[in-house]
Amino acid sequence: TYVVTDNCINCKFTDCVEVCPVDCFYEGENTLVIHPDECIDCGVCEPECPADAIRPDTDDGAEHWVEMNRKYAEHWPVITEKKDPMPDADEWNGKEGKLDLLSE
Ligand code: SF4
Ligand code: F3S
Repeated sequence: TYVVTDNCINCKFTDCVEVCPVDCFYEGENTLVIHPDECIDCGVCEPECPADAIRPDTDDGAEHWVEMNRKYAEHWPVITEKKDPMPDADEWNGKEGKLDLLSE
């Protein structure tokens, strides 16, 4: 599976949702997540993200992101169409350690 990391938080560019063939992105207030059980591992979303927030679960330390993605994907609504990014997306792009800012 691929997962969304905290690089998405407060950016939410949503380019990723347009390309997913199985519509497995779910939307929270300030980030998206991927449902790890629905993702077919095609990889097409990864290069689409301007914040480089999408990573394969083969990355070091990705286990934590898989759990985080699964947890929220089960509660948040699906998102399949691109929308405007968050207002200060460009300022937040690239900031590290944003996980504490996630709005449930
Ligand atoms: Fe969707 Fe493919 Fe990205 Fe998985 S890797 S979330 S199936 S676009
Ligand atoms: Fe987030 Fe990147 Fe998609 S910022 S909404 S994972 S395009």
